Formats: sequence, C-alpha cells, structure tokens
Amino acid sequence: MSERIYLDYNATTPAKPEVVDAIAEILARGGNASSIHQPGRAARSAVEEARGSLADLVGAATEEILFTGSGTEANNQALRCSGRQRVLCSTIEHESVMFAHPDPIPLPVGVNGMLDLDALDSALSESNDPTVVAVMLANNETGVIQPIAEAADICARHGAWLHCDAVQALGKIPLDVTILGADSYAFAAHKLAGPQGVGALILRSQKSFGRLIHGGGQERGLRAGTENVAGIAGFGVAVRLAEQALDGFAQLAILRDDLERRVGVIAPGRIVFGAASPRLPNTSKFTMPGVSSETQVMAMDLAGISISAGSACAAGKVEPPYVLSAMGVADDVALTAVRVSLGWRTREKDIDRFVAAWRELFKRAGIRAA
Ligand SMILES: Cc1ncc(COP(=O)(O)O)c(C=O)c1O
Repeated sequence: MSERIYLDYNATTPAKPEVVDAIAEILARGGNASSIHQPGRAARSAVEEARGSLADLVGAATEEILFTGSGTEANNQALRCSGRQRVLCSTIEHESVMFAHPDPIPLPVGVNGMLDLDALDSALSESNDPTVVAVMLANNETGVIQPIAEAADICARHGAWLHCDAVQALGKIPLDVTILGADSYAFAAHKLAGPQGVGALILRSQKSFGRLIHGGGQERGLRAGTENVAGIAGFGVAVRLAEQALDGFAQLAILRDDLERRVGVIAPGRIVFGAASPRLPNTSKFTMPGVSSETQVMAMDLAGISISAGSACAAGKVEPPYVLSAMGVADDVALTAVRVSLGWRTREKDIDRFVAAWRELFKRAGIRAA
C-alpha cells in the first residue's frame, strides 16, 4: 500500500516536527502566563517570544497583537467589536467573516475573483455611518490575492475600518501590515504548520475596540481567558519556520502550474478559477467537466489522496461553492470543481500520483481522455 498523499493544506496543515516538539515541551512544563512565580514567568516569556516572532514576520508592533482561540474568533472580534455598526463584506469571505454580523452589505468580486474596488468606493459613499469593511488577503478556495492596499486607501478616504482576514496568506506570501495598510488582520496557526485552535488578531489601533470574550484581563484586556501557552509557542515556532521557508513556498507554484497543465491535457475543457489573477503559489481550483466534486473527492480518497470539494452539503443537498457563484460561475460548472492545495511536504511524485488517479477517474467516468 503506497503512502497517503495530502493535498488539502488550505483546510489544515500537518504541524512541523519543531512545532510538535515545542508544544510537547511547554505542555509538560506547565505554567500560567499570568502567574508571577518562575513557571509563570517562563510561560509568559514563551508567549511574548511568539508575539515577537509574529510581529517580525508581518511588520507589526508587538502591542498590536492579541492571541485568540482561532482565526474564526479573530474575525468575529474584528467585525463585532469595533464599535461600528455598518458592515460591508466581500462576497468571497470565509464564513467566519460572512456570518460574524447578521446583516452585512455584500461587495461584489469580478469573474477574476478580485474585489470590485469601484463598488467598494460607491458603497462607502452611500452612508456616513461608521463602517467596517471586510476583505480577505487570499481566498481559501481559489487562492486569489485581493487588492488590499488599494482597498485600504479607499477605506481611509471614507474613514472606514478595513479588516483583512489574512488566515490563508500568512506564511505563504510576504505580508507587511504597514504596506498593506488595513486596520486589523486575522491569522490562524494551523494554516502554516502550527497547531489548530490558536489565532491572532492584529489591531493597528485599539482605541474604542471592545472584547468578544469576557473575563480576566489577559491580552491587554481585549481577550479574556488563560493563554494557550503551548499552542501560542507552537504558533511562534511555525511563524519563524515559515519566514525561513517563504522562498521555498513560492516554488510550489512550479508544481501547481505543472499540475494545472497536466489536468488540462487530460481534460482540455477543464477550467482553472482565478488563473489570470495573482494567486497563492500552492492553491488550485479546477473542474473535471461532467464529474461532480464529490465523486472526484471520493475517488481520490480511495486512491489515497486527500483533496477538497469546497462545496457544502446542507441537509443532504449539495450546494455550489458560494465563492465560485460570487465569481459568476454557473452552478453545474461549480459543482464539478475541486480544490488541490499544496504544502511543506508536497513533492513532485505526489503531483504525479494525483494526475494518474485523476486521469483514471476521467476515463472511468466515460469521457475519452486526450
Ligand atoms: C480564509 C479563512 N479565514 C478564516 C478561517 C478560520 O480559521 P480557524 O480555522 O482558525 O477558525 C479559515 C479556515 O479555514 C480560512 O480559510
């Protein structure tokens, strides 16, 4: 039986061994970062070291960073606790942004998967109410990178707060908060080979910002709850490793492009979404004409390969992925799309295995392979 191949890194990544070691050591040591005795001080310094690593990677000040329990929590706090009631939200945001507010005003994207900046400008011109705008840095399904710096300029002109969900971008592409210019950012450790259940929120200004989780005074009074010291330390190690590996991560685009070319040879009618836009180097979302996403995911799973359908199964009904619908993709096409996302363990032979299994399925599905 050949080794299983994991090509679903945008869902979550296996942690790197150094991360696992750091977490194990700190868990065994114990210590509450708010205690003043030695184990407490050691825990505090582990948290602050991680904060420093994240600050270095993204160009933020350490005081701007709050550790949270997930990327979802960071997004919720940004959208619900800014003291601004009006929320504009791009139509391709992750659910943790989309559903953080009961009534967000949608901001359209083009067929290329990128935010319509004119629509943002006119939506902001329509009201003087204090507004939060949510635009992600990189989309989890297509990998398309959004024009954050341009959106930040528009928001600044209108006095709106720009929140940027950068969960999928951290550790994958260079990211400098001072260059991008948003007011807040969300991150999650498990997308860059760190642990699940740890996130961070960067608030470039904390004036009048509220807390989502109430209780103790941790994280400058903005996020109550005993810090997840081991998880945060693991996040810090993952951040440092990702920083060193950024050039290598960019090289994944070579494997990704090769994969897209080869599936195009098998199925010349296949569509790659967002292919003409700037994209994360590791992400590809494409169709197998005539074969449902679920069939592809199940067939690949049986062949020992993990990929994602990206479509939600609600009450037995398969719905087209909303990100593709937002890009104007017809339902019957969207329902044949799968997402393949590469990561730190991906090698050329993994792409070869995926291509062979996909070709096999395409033949079995009764469509003549080219
Ligand atoms: C773009 C994006 N934002 C937010 C999240 C949520 O992060 P977490 O899983 O840490 O709650 C995810 C996770 O899939 C994501 O892809």
